[in-house]
Amino acid sequence: MKMITRRDFLKASAVVGATAALTACGGGDSSSTAASSTASSAPASSAAEEPAEEAAGGATIGICIYQFADNFMTLYRADLEEYLGELGYAVTIMDGKNDQSTQTEQINTFLQQGVDVLIINPVQTTSAQTIVDTISPSGIPIVFINREPDKAVLDSYPDKCCYVGADARQSGTYQGELILETETQGDINGDGVITYIMCKGDPENIDAQYRTEYSIKALTDAGKQVECLYEYLDNWDQTLAQQDVANALAQYGEQIEVVFCNNDAMALGALQSIQQVGRTVGTDIYLVGVDALADAVQAVMDGNMTGTVLNDDVGQATAATEATRLYVEGEPVEQYYWVDYVKVTPENAAEYL
Ligand code: GAL
Repeated sequence: MKMITRRDFLKASAVVGATAALTACGGGDSSSTAASSTASSAPASSAAEEPAEEAAGGATIGICIYQFADNFMTLYRADLEEYLGELGYAVTIMDGKNDQSTQTEQINTFLQQGVDVLIINPVQTTSAQTIVDTISPSGIPIVFINREPDKAVLDSYPDKCCYVGADARQSGTYQGELILETETQGDINGDGVITYIMCKGDPENIDAQYRTEYSIKALTDAGKQVECLYEYLDNWDQTLAQQDVANALAQYGEQIEVVFCNNDAMALGALQSIQQVGRTVGTDIYLVGVDALADAVQAVMDGNMTGTVLNDDVGQATAATEATRLYVEGEPVEQYYWVDYVKVTPENAAEYL
């Protein structure tokens, strides 16, 4: 049951796109099956079941994910493997283990193997230029995903480098709006100030920076007064957020009216601590995240989270697959592909399970 509505619904368009894309492709040999060397949990791709004439002619795609132990990127990489496999590409996915030098070695290995396209979710966005400089002599195109490099980085490898992502400002704004849409507009104790704590993702990551800034900007733009009790560096991590929110609840108690989390993993950690001290979301505290992980959507439906924001892995993986296909086929590729976020509330949450 879980995930079927959201993923099947969103995937339907991806499959239509992929099928249409396949009409231009021919050939296909034994190498044109998806191979997942290190994506331990991912099943063999359905590409092996595709009719041979629908395979794309054996393109090989190297994918570098910053860290497999990341809930959202786990959804994303499973989508990528599936959609690229449906195009008949041989796909290898590597776990950067949140270590840039490990990822750099993996990129060098892909270069030696001579893959056709690299899809890169950099460990450090600030290393994106070095990554491009390493790859560009080979002429291999790069699709950056999830962690947006500076435009100058994309410009430095013209026609060979693009970014697929979502504008994190939108997700932050939606988080603020979710709070403004509550009965008390975030001011539970009615003192005229929205008092909050913030659980932040990796501080170098533009998603974390923008969500932190724009969630609060939505409140102040609406004329609200805000007070930040503390910003915790929880690195997208559920356990860290659980500990920090437990400490915050002990330290600040009833003062905390809103817990903003830059992602759902941290919001789920926060929820554990909120429940542990007997606080009730929607009654004496509000809680918002981003990603629309299945557990968070369920929590929204159950009233245990005020809301979340869909970070559309299916849409982003579809766009990244399409950019990859265009590179493989030598067609023009845009520099940016943007996918919208969607506000998830108790009213529409069932659509995103
Ligand atoms: C964000 C996502 C986080 C985490 C991060 C990794 O877009 O919301 O949960 O996956 O990307 O860069």
